[in-house]
Amino acid sequence: MKAFFTEEFIEEVRMNNDIVEVVSEYVHLKRKGRYFFGLCPFHNERTPSFTVTPDLQIFNCFGCNKGGNVIHFIMSIENLDFVEAIKFLAERAGMELPGNDNSESAKEYKLKTEILNINKFVAQSYYNNLMSEKGSGAREYLSRRKINHAVVKKFGLGYSFPGNTLYELLQEKGFSKEAIIKSGLVIEGKRGKYFDRFRNRLMFPIFDVRGNVIGFGGRALDDTLPKYMNSPETLVYNKGRNLYALNFAKNFKDKKLIIVEGYMDVITLHQNGIINSVASLGTALTENQGRLLKKYAEEVIISFDADAAGQKAAMRSLDMLTNIGCKVKVLTIPNGKDPDEYVRENGPEAFKELIDNSMNLVEYKIGAVKKNIDTNTTEGKIEFVKKAAEILSLIESPAELEIYIRKISEQYEISMGSLYAEVQNRKSPKKVNKELRSFSKRQNVPDGKKEFLNKIEISKTFNNDKKIIYSELILIAILCMDNSVFKLVKDKYDLNSFSEENKHIASYVYEKLEAKARIVPVELLNSMDADKAGEFARILEQECNFDDSEKAVVDIINRLFTLKLENRKQEILEKIRNKDKLNLNSLQINELLKELNDLVFEIKKYSEP
Ligand code: CTP
Ligand code: MN
Repeated sequence: MKAFFTEEFIEEVRMNNDIVEVVSEYVHLKRKGRYFFGLCPFHNERTPSFTVTPDLQIFNCFGCNKGGNVIHFIMSIENLDFVEAIKFLAERAGMELPGNDNSESAKEYKLKTEILNINKFVAQSYYNNLMSEKGSGAREYLSRRKINHAVVKKFGLGYSFPGNTLYELLQEKGFSKEAIIKSGLVIEGKRGKYFDRFRNRLMFPIFDVRGNVIGFGGRALDDTLPKYMNSPETLVYNKGRNLYALNFAKNFKDKKLIIVEGYMDVITLHQNGIINSVASLGTALTENQGRLLKKYAEEVIISFDADAAGQKAAMRSLDMLTNIGCKVKVLTIPNGKDPDEYVRENGPEAFKELIDNSMNLVEYKIGAVKKNIDTNTTEGKIEFVKKAAEILSLIESPAELEIYIRKISEQYEISMGSLYAEVQNRKSPKKVNKELRSFSKRQNVPDGKKEFLNKIEISKTFNNDKKIIYSELILIAILCMDNSVFKLVKDKYDLNSFSEENKHIASYVYEKLEAKARIVPVELLNSMDADKAGEFARILEQECNFDDSEKAVVDIINRLFTLKLENRKQEILEKIRNKDKLNLNSLQINELLKELNDLVFEIKKYSEP
C-alpha cells in the first residue's frame, strides 16, 4: 500500500505539514517550554497528558499511549488509511499528487515531467550560449566578478541570447506548446508571437534538493532594470519551498548551514570553499524554507545584507526559525558589504572568522535594541535595561542567564544586580517552567504517565529479547538525532547484530547514512504502523535527552552486548539442566561449563562502568 507513493514524496508531505499547526486544528494546545500540551483527542481526560514536540515533529499521549508523526495523527483523528492520510495532508499543503489513476492528476504529472525536461534542456543550452562566441560579454562579466570556470560548471551558469529563440528551439525538440508556455520561459504575445522571458542575461538555474532544474534567475549584465528576473511560480517551482544551492550544501559534514540573500553570495562562498551556504533569494525565509533547513541543519546562521530590509528580514527569519525549534545565529558583515563583496575583498578566512563570531538570538536582539537607543543618557540607559530585560527573561537556563547578564553589565556599565532584578520582575517564577519542571520531576503525574516516565521500571517488565529490541530502537533514534555518531555505532554494532524485528528499519538508516544523506528521526516514523510509531515516538521524547550522544551510544551498545551474553548464558544453563535428556557426555558438559565461565567474565566486563 505504501508503495503507492515514493519515500521522498511521503517525506515531503510530512515536512510541509507542521505537526503543531495540524494538531492545533483539532486540539487546543498550550506551549510549555519544549512541548505543547493539550487534552488528548483519542481518549477522555480532564488533565492534559497529550504532548506535541515541535523540534521532533512528533506527538505522544501518556494516557492512551498513542503517538507518532503528523501522518499517524491524521490517520487516527480522521480515521483514514495511510494512502488517504497522505492525500489529505498533500492537499492541505497545496501539493500535487504524483500520477495516479485520477486522469486529471496523471495529466498534471506528465506536464510536470515535461516542464522539468524543458528546464534541463534550456539550462544546457544557456550554458552552451555562454561558452559560444556570442557569450564573450557574459564571460567577461563573470571574470570581472572573479567567478572561475569550475564554479560556473558546478552551478550550471549560462547566458540567454538577446533575441527570442526559445519557442522555436523547444518546438523543434518536440516539447508541447502547453508545457513550453507553462514552463514560464516563453511568454505568448498577441498575433502568435512568442517572447523569451530572459534576454541578454547571465542565467542561474535553480535546483531542488534532488538536483532537478525547477526554475531560473537571470541577472542583467549592466545597469538594466530589473537587476534580477526570476521564473514565475510554475507547476514545478515554488519559491517559498526552496533554497538555492541546498542540493550542494546538504552534503556538508557539519550540520550547519549559512543563509545568504543572493545568487552571487552563494556562488562566491562556494568558490571560496564555504560550501554550506544557501540563498533564500531575496526575501525573509518562509516557514517551509525553515523546515527544510531544519531537516538538514542543527544550526542555522543568517547572513543577510546590512541594509534595513535585510536586517528586518533577518529578525523575522530569526523568530520564525526559533519558533520551529532551530538553533539560529546571525552573522553581521562590517561596513554594509554583502557576503560576495566581503569574501572577494577579504578572503574566506576572514569570513570564517565572522562565522565564528556570529551572534545568537539574545545577543542579536539586544544589539538591535541598543542600535536605536543612546545609552549615554540616563533615560536611554533605563530604556535599554528595560528592553534588554524583556529579552533576557525568555532565557530558561539560569547559567545562561548569568553569562548574559555579566556580559551586558560589563559592556554597558550597568550593575548585574539591577539587571537581575529587572529580569526577575518579568519572569514570574510561578509561571515560567513550573509545569515543565514538575513534568520532568515526575511529580503530580497521572498514573498513566508514570509508567512511561519511569523507563527503568518498564524495561524490567520486558524479557531480554524485548529489552534488546527496545534498546536497539534507542540506538537507532540516537543515530537519527546525531548523524555524526554513525561511524562509531557501525564499527561496534553492524547491521547483522540487529534483531530480526529491527533489521529493516536499521538497514534503511544505515544505507542513508552510508550514502552520506541526512536523516531525521521523524522521517523513520513514516513507514511504521501505529503501534510501532507510538513506541518510537515515546522513545524519542523520553529516552533521547542526552548531553553526549557518543557516551549514550557506547552505553547502549554495552547494554545490548550484555543482554545478548545473558541470553546465551540462559541457553547454556538450560542445556546443562537438561543434560540427561539431551544425552550430553562429560566432554560436552565441560565445554559448556567453560563457555559459561567465559560468559560470566565477559558480562562483568561490559557491565562495569
Ligand atoms: N532579487 C530579485 N529581484 C531583484 C533584486 C534582487 O529577485 N530585482 C533577489 C535575487 O535573488 C538576488 C537577491 O535578491 O540575488 C539579493 O539582491 P541584491 O542584494 O540586490 O543583489 P546581489 O545578490 O547583491 O546581486 P549582485 O551582487 O549581482 O548585485
Ligand atoms: Mn552583491
